[in-house]
Amino acid sequence: MAKMEVKTSLLDNMIGVGDMVLLEPLDEDSFINNLKKRFDHSEVYTYIGSVVISINPYRSLPIYTPEKVEEYRNRNFYELSPHIFALSDEAYRSLRDQDKDQCILITGESGAGKTEASKLVMSYVAAVCGKGAEVNQVKEQLLQSNPVLEAFGNAKTVRNDNSSRFGKYMDIEFDFKGDPLGGVISNYLLEKSRVVKQPRGERNFHIFYQILSGASEDFLCKLKLERDFSRYNYLGLDSAKVNGVDDAANFRTVRNAMQIVGFMDHETQSVFEVVAAVLKLGNIEFKPESRVNGLDESKIKDKNELKEICELTGIDQSVLERAFSFRTVEAKQEKVSTTLNVAQAYYARDALAKNLYSRLFSWLVTRINESIKAQTKVRKKVMGVLDIYGFEIFEDNSFEQFIINYCNEKLQQIFIELTLKEEQEEYIREGIEWTHIEYFNNAIICDLIENNQTGILAMLDEECLRPGTVTDDTFLEKLNQVCATHQHFESRMSKCSRFLNDTSLPHSCFRIQHYAGKVMYQVEGFVDKNNDLLYRDLSQAMWKASHSLIKALFPEGNPAKINLKRPPTAGSQFKASVATLMKNLQTKNPNYIRCIKPNDKKAAHIFNDALVCHQIRYLGLLENVRVRRAGYAFRQAYEPCLERYKMLCKQTWPHWRGLARAGVEVLFNELEIPEEEFSFGRSKIFIRNPRTLFKLEDLRKQRLEDLATLIEKIYRGWKCRTRFLLMKKSQIVIASWYRRYAQQKKYQKIKSSAIIVQSYIRGWKARKLLRELKHQKRCNEAATIIAAYWHGTQARRELRRLKEEARNKHAIAVIWAYWLGYKVRREYRKFFRANAGRKIYEFTLQRLMQKYFLEMKNKMPSLSPIDKNWPARPYLFLDSTHKELKRIFHLWRCKKYRDQFTDQQKLIYEEKLEASELFKDKKALYPASVGQPFQGAYLEISKNPKYKKLKDAVDEKIIIAEVVNKINRANGKATSRIFLLTKNNVLLADQKSGNIKSEVPLGDVTKVSMSSQNDGFFAVHLKEGSGAAGKGDFLLSSDHLIEMATKLYRTTLSQTKQKLNIEISDEFLVQFRQDKVCVKFIQGSQKNGNIPTCKRKNNRLLEVAVP
Ligand SMILES: Nc1ncnc2c1ncn2[C@@H]1O[C@H](COP(=O)(O)OP(=O)(O)O)[C@@H](O)[C@H]1O
Ligand SMILES: [Mg+2]
Repeated sequence: MAKMEVKTSLLDNMIGVGDMVLLEPLDEDSFINNLKKRFDHSEVYTYIGSVVISINPYRSLPIYTPEKVEEYRNRNFYELSPHIFALSDEAYRSLRDQDKDQCILITGESGAGKTEASKLVMSYVAAVCGKGAEVNQVKEQLLQSNPVLEAFGNAKTVRNDNSSRFGKYMDIEFDFKGDPLGGVISNYLLEKSRVVKQPRGERNFHIFYQILSGASEDFLCKLKLERDFSRYNYLGLDSAKVNGVDDAANFRTVRNAMQIVGFMDHETQSVFEVVAAVLKLGNIEFKPESRVNGLDESKIKDKNELKEICELTGIDQSVLERAFSFRTVEAKQEKVSTTLNVAQAYYARDALAKNLYSRLFSWLVTRINESIKAQTKVRKKVMGVLDIYGFEIFEDNSFEQFIINYCNEKLQQIFIELTLKEEQEEYIREGIEWTHIEYFNNAIICDLIENNQTGILAMLDEECLRPGTVTDDTFLEKLNQVCATHQHFESRMSKCSRFLNDTSLPHSCFRIQHYAGKVMYQVEGFVDKNNDLLYRDLSQAMWKASHSLIKALFPEGNPAKINLKRPPTAGSQFKASVATLMKNLQTKNPNYIRCIKPNDKKAAHIFNDALVCHQIRYLGLLENVRVRRAGYAFRQAYEPCLERYKMLCKQTWPHWRGLARAGVEVLFNELEIPEEEFSFGRSKIFIRNPRTLFKLEDLRKQRLEDLATLIEKIYRGWKCRTRFLLMKKSQIVIASWYRRYAQQKKYQKIKSSAIIVQSYIRGWKARKLLRELKHQKRCNEAATIIAAYWHGTQARRELRRLKEEARNKHAIAVIWAYWLGYKVRREYRKFFRANAGRKIYEFTLQRLMQKYFLEMKNKMPSLSPIDKNWPARPYLFLDSTHKELKRIFHLWRCKKYRDQFTDQQKLIYEEKLEASELFKDKKALYPASVGQPFQGAYLEISKNPKYKKLKDAVDEKIIIAEVVNKINRANGKATSRIFLLTKNNVLLADQKSGNIKSEVPLGDVTKVSMSSQNDGFFAVHLKEGSGAAGKGDFLLSSDHLIEMATKLYRTTLSQTKQKLNIEISDEFLVQFRQDKVCVKFIQGSQKNGNIPTCKRKNNRLLEVAVP
């Protein structure tokens, strides 16, 4: 999608006029008023064609934000309100897209904002040019070179708190894409005299104050410095602190910047050591000392400072001390040493300090250049930014001001040349006739200064090189002679001078009428400063330093490279470098920023008309406008012009299909602009008078309003219409939905009503039908019943008739039979009585028997022997048969039952049978034992490890193993014993240990006695005289008495073939050793609950109470 571009113009929302070319009428007053008006509205930039006038606002304006950068990026120069970014953008794009090297010339007097402007240009270019890690590093280094150079090269002056005391020209190099590659900085003439002396109200270079305020105690100590400014003679005290400047913070910024630019730590350290040495040099003081030969000699007052300097710089103290006391002159292989007096010593000291500092500064520039130089050899495009000291007029102007102002003259020169040339070229390019205009050309002033034969600089050099006594006065004399007639030179010395009576001009001065005003120069110091002499002894002393940086700063001190030729003078050096600069600038496309200072107070919002007027005059800005307007005040390419004004003519509005130029022609014809007011160039329209342009602008404004109304009208109509259409559409949608809804509701209502009606009708119909059907059914039933009754009547009648008939027939038959029988009986009576009666009786009996057995067969009870059922007897005469049959059946089923038994079961039943025979109806305990199976081995002797011994002792099969209570014969108390019955023996063993207590062979058991009651006591009687009978019979009690007695009986029987005598009696005798004791059972004692208890009553009686 094509980006919608809003074409704006400088002409939109203008305050005053944005381009002075459009000023009407054009004179100084209107010019200043326009500037003032714009300044008051914070518009600090104004154009003269492509030149930007910048007025220092002395306050930060919100017009340098990243958003502003974006706004001006890639926009045409006249598209937006004047701004330094517009110029930077134009220059950058011209460099990038048209491959033209650029230079940005920033001029103006000190404090007008040149340095700030140069930084703005650089930061803008940095913001819009390529991005990427490498590119960003280059940019950062380029930008960070500024704080370093400013710290060392700027100082507070009365004009400017951050005045550049050196000239700077920086080439920024780009590759073909417009990405920055690096840069080269050239510096021009540092004002080094400031190192040793500053005018009132001014400061030394910032770096001195920054170190003292910002360095850590540690660092200061290393540099042998103290924080107190007043300790140093070289620091002007009256304005050591500058308002709004934080020296300590700036020091950190500088160190950081040095690091970014690429200074190594040791380099930074060395730099600060040199700075410290310079500062301390100022504290060396000399005192006179008279010598024998009458000459004054100087001595260092306090050698402490000297010592510290030597420690810092690694110079031998005696070498430096000597260098401050003697001067060696070499001439024709001869060395002559002369002593220095105090004044000369001070001169030498200051010269050394100045040289040290200025050389350090140059070294810094070289070092920075090393860091920021482009790394490739590919062809580079260059953008030069020139920020050189501005024109200066002080109370006392010396050599430095002379040089600075000369440089400004040169810049003005190049400005004039290039603007004129550019203007002229444009006219020729566009094929418009060029008319010459008058303006002041300052070439004549340049000539006064730089002419090789008669120029002031040439004469100064001549004077310096001349043998014999040379002073500033002889130089002034020479000037007076040579330049007396020059229009721009003023002096009172020459006899025929026009200024003989001008008391404002002292005798030791000369005055030059610079393009920017008259400046009076104090001639004192010109020769010295031009010579820029440093005694060779000093440079040699420096070269001997072990401090590598200081050594490098003084290469001429190397005795091996002694050069007797004088070094070039400061003036000629500067002239040469300015010439190179000019040549360089001429090859580039110039862009001008002319800085103006609105007041002398460094204050915001103050616009001093006189001051501005003065600057406008000497900058030749009015001439600049006039040149620009020569012939034509305004020009614009056809396309933007047509674009801007096409709405003023029907043919070109809204679209012009032909060439832009033709469109503009049609437009201008239509508007009836007088022919002499404009002229058609090749690509531009030239408008002679700003009035015409403003007329066009007014028309455009008017027309725009009309158009706006039209657009608004159409837009409103369109909006209403779309809204209406939308509403209509919506209404239809809503209506249709509503109708549908309503119809749906209605339909549902009808439907439910219909269903109700329908159901009623159906109900009614169904009931009617039901009624009919019921009626019909009743009719049918009635008919059936009637028919049934009728049929019944019929049938019964028939039956009756048939019965009647049958009865009749039967009666007849009976009667017949009876009659027949009667006849037969009468006939056969005599035969029947003899045979038939007995046969009939037998037959009947037989028949009954048969019936009885057959019926019995079906009525047999179950095969269970305990089933007591038996069918009832049917006939009395079969009673005994019936009983017999029952008995036989029972026996049979018992046999059947017995037949199923295994041998084991048989044994059990045999035992049980035995028990029954022995105890049934004899012992009350017996019935309870019937249901209990006989288990025999209640104690599992073999499985219980406790009884292992017992088990080992008994090797026969164990028939009974059970715990019994053995009754103590003495007191009737019971003790637990294990009762074992084997095939041959009865054993009693201890229950806990399993030790056998007694063993009785079965043959020795004679009898077992027990009561008839419900108790488990029994006595085992032993054969008298047998081995076991010694202790007497056993009286025992067991829960399984019946089983034990039975088993004992059976085992004895099978072993001895004798029946064991079992005596059942409630009183029996037991043999205890020698005595016989009677055991008596008494029933009914409830003393101990349900347990029978045994008690010894006396020697002869043991009583057992059985519950
Ligand atoms: N565009 C600006 N916006 C705000 N302040 C400015 C601007 N230009 C200059 N100044 C102020 O004016 C002072 C002097 O400017 P500077 O560029 O150092 O002057 P010059 O280099 O011309 O001597 C700056 O320190 C700054 O305070
Ligand atoms: Mg400056």
